[in-house]
Amino acid sequence: MRAINGEDVYPIIFKRKSVRKFEAAPLDEAALQKIRTFLTTLRPLFPEIRTELKFMGADEVKGIFKVNAPHYLAIYSEEKDGYLANAGFLLQQVDLFLPTLNIGSCWQGGPRPTKEFKGADGLEFVILLAFGRPAEELFRNSVSEFKRNPLTSITNISGEDELLEAVRLAPSAVNKQTWYFTRTGDAIHVYAGRGGLIPPQRLKAIDAGIAMCHLWLAAENSGRKAEAVVKDPGSTGAPRDYDYIASMIVK
Ligand SMILES: Cc1cc2nc3c(=O)[nH]c(=O)nc-3n(C[C@H](O)[C@H](O)[C@H](O)COP(=O)(O)O)c2cc1C
Repeated sequence: MRAINGEDVYPIIFKRKSVRKFEAAPLDEAALQKIRTFLTTLRPLFPEIRTELKFMGADEVKGIFKVNAPHYLAIYSEEKDGYLANAGFLLQQVDLFLPTLNIGSCWQGGPRPTKEFKGADGLEFVILLAFGRPAEELFRNSVSEFKRNPLTSITNISGEDELLEAVRLAPSAVNKQTWYFTRTGDAIHVYAGRGGLIPPQRLKAIDAGIAMCHLWLAAENSGRKAEAVVKDPGSTGAPRDYDYIASMIVK
C-alpha cells in the first residue's frame, strides 16, 4: 500500500470531501512543518516541468467561489505541454494528505493571488488549494455519499474496476467529471471533455491530472507500477469532442 511520509493517503480517496467552512485560526507551526516536509516528497506527473509551491494567507487571495480559509497553497509552473495536468497531479497529493492531519481543503479554480508573483524564475500561477482546520465534517461516511457519474459513463475499459473506481471518485471543477479513459495494452489514456464555458478548459486539464493521481495511487496500492507519458495513441474509442491529455502505463 502506498505510504507518503509515513501516511497512507490511498484510503482518503474513498472518504474525502471538499471542506468550505474553516476555523479562522491559522494552523500551528508543528502542523505547517509537517505539510512543508510532505511537500518535499511530492511526485510530479512530468518531472521535466519546473514548478514552485507558495503558501498564502486569506488577504493574498481573491476572486469568485473563494472559500474563506486561513491558508492557501498556490502552484506556479512553467507552461510546458502537460503543465495543467501536472499541477493537478501534484496538488491532489496534498488534498489527500491534509485530512490525515485532521486538516480540510478545497480546490480553488476561481480565485487567484492578489499580487503578481513570478516564482523564482518567471513561473506562471496555475491554481490554489485552500486549507485549514475544518468547521464542518472532514469525511464522508461512505462511498454512496459521493455525487459521481457511474463508471460506464467515463470509460470503455473492462476488468480494471478497482483502479477506475478510485478515479471515478476524484474531485473535479464544479463536479463536472468531464474525463474519459481508454486502454491499449498496458496504457490507460486520459481525455478531457471539450466545449462549454463552465468549467473553463484549463480546469478540465487540471481535473485530468487529479484523476491521474488517483489512478497512480490505486495502481501502487495493488502492487503495480504506474508511469505517465504524453503520446497520443490515436483512435482508441474515446468519445468525440474529447482532448487527449496523457497516458499512464500501468504494469
Ligand atoms: C480544479 C478544481 C477547481 C475547483 N474550484 C472550486 C472553487 O473555486 N470553489 C469551490 O468552492 N470549489 C471548487 N472546487 C471543488 C469542487 O466543486 C468539488 O471538488 C466537487 O464539487 C466535488 O465535490 P467533493 O470535492 O466534495 O467530492 C474545485 C475542484 C477542482 C477539482
